[in-house]
Amino acid sequence: MAQLWGGRFTKETEQAVYDFNASILFDQRLIHQDITGSIAHCTMLCKQKILTEAERDAIIKGLKEIEADTANGSLVITSAYEDVHSFVEANLIERIGDTGKKLHTGRSRNDQVALDMRLYVKEQVQETDMLLKELLETLVSLMEEHIETYMPGFTHLQKAQPTTLAHHMGAYFEMFRRDRERLSDLLKRMDYSPLGAGAFAGTTYPLDREYTASLLGFSGATRNSMDSVSDRDYVIEYLSALSLIMMHLSRFSEEMILWNSNEYRFVEIDDAYSTGSSIMPQKKNPDIAELVRGKTGRVYGALMSMLTTMKGIPLAYNKDMQEDKEMTFDAIDTVNHCIPLFNGMMRTTTFRKNVMEKSAMKGFTNATDAADYLVMKGVPFRDAHGIIGRLVLFCIDEEKAIDDLSLEKLKEFDPHFEADVFDAISLKTCVEKRLTKGAPGKQVMEEEIRECREYLDRKG
Ligand code: ARG
Repeated sequence: MAQLWGGRFTKETEQAVYDFNASILFDQRLIHQDITGSIAHCTMLCKQKILTEAERDAIIKGLKEIEADTANGSLVITSAYEDVHSFVEANLIERIGDTGKKLHTGRSRNDQVALDMRLYVKEQVQETDMLLKELLETLVSLMEEHIETYMPGFTHLQKAQPTTLAHHMGAYFEMFRRDRERLSDLLKRMDYSPLGAGAFAGTTYPLDREYTASLLGFSGATRNSMDSVSDRDYVIEYLSALSLIMMHLSRFSEEMILWNSNEYRFVEIDDAYSTGSSIMPQKKNPDIAELVRGKTGRVYGALMSMLTTMKGIPLAYNKDMQEDKEMTFDAIDTVNHCIPLFNGMMRTTTFRKNVMEKSAMKGFTNATDAADYLVMKGVPFRDAHGIIGRLVLFCIDEEKAIDDLSLEKLKEFDPHFEADVFDAISLKTCVEKRLTKGAPGKQVMEEEIRECREYLDRKG
């Protein structure tokens, strides 16, 4: 048991208590951030004449060696230390002697861990953003490729109106674009360094907090020192953004699973992204999409867990806050694995244009357009709705599509039908005439895709 404290204690910590309290098994992930923060702190202590240059140089050299040795495996992080901060400090003292004991001057583990977590989250937010950008590149390529791939659009999972695959992919493009905006918002809000807040009340040493903030790449130092050590809002905001990303990926997965089924056959997920059954030789299952859908739950769980952990904590630091790590790390790992896997699956999936188009021609997806046709001929919309409703009922009995009927038959339902109806309700017309902003018609879709491309070029 290696602890940084003990002076005021008369007994050894109970082993079970030590284990329960320790965080080294999971916070060792923060070693890089911990060392980076310590180097900045020590550089600032020297600038403020709290450490000599020789002391600063010895400490930084020692810290860099610890980082290198843990990276190459010659120094192993073990549970003999309470947390990553204790591990680094103990090793530093072992390496460079008493000078190492000066590193923690004017610092508390409270501002130290707050800093480490911020640095880590900041880095991960940028990683998530980059992965989303790659997914958006795939989506915009699909949009470009499938601007004239007609398919049914659904409401209530019933065929509703025809659209294109480009339009459908464009809907997901917008979701993930918003997700990136959320990430960049939270990045702006969290971009302040808590280092120098001390235990919670600052310190009497003349620390230069803005200096360490700039050394560490933050846009400034946090304001209230009590808030600085107690704030985990940015973790919750990130978890919330991650939950939304997973919600979007999960809906997308659900559609890919449906489309890949024998009933739809709209897509074929590549062999490289599918798995088989141990008993049924014919099976090729969309496990990746199912797992992405399934893992959404654990990311929501992390968000709920963190919100609940924080809700009753009095100011300032309390040990409850150590619970900010495991679930958050798990959620980050989950999302940062799911996005590229999903992206790989999308990039390799085959889209069966013919099946989609045939499906769009069935199920009366042109019924709205047939009603609109009558409106154009002077029939009030509500009446046209009723006429086409009766027509559909007739077609269902006859097992026909509206366009299969002869003009004579159509006229029996309403005399306004003319020969031009067939063109007016053809699949192509139904889609291409939809030219309102955001609709699937080719002209507006091309404009939409141009904007998506520009956005991707513009945004890092
Ligand atoms: N392992 C602790 C955490 O993750 C570090 C901070 C400990 N601070 C303290 N006063 N006990 O939150």
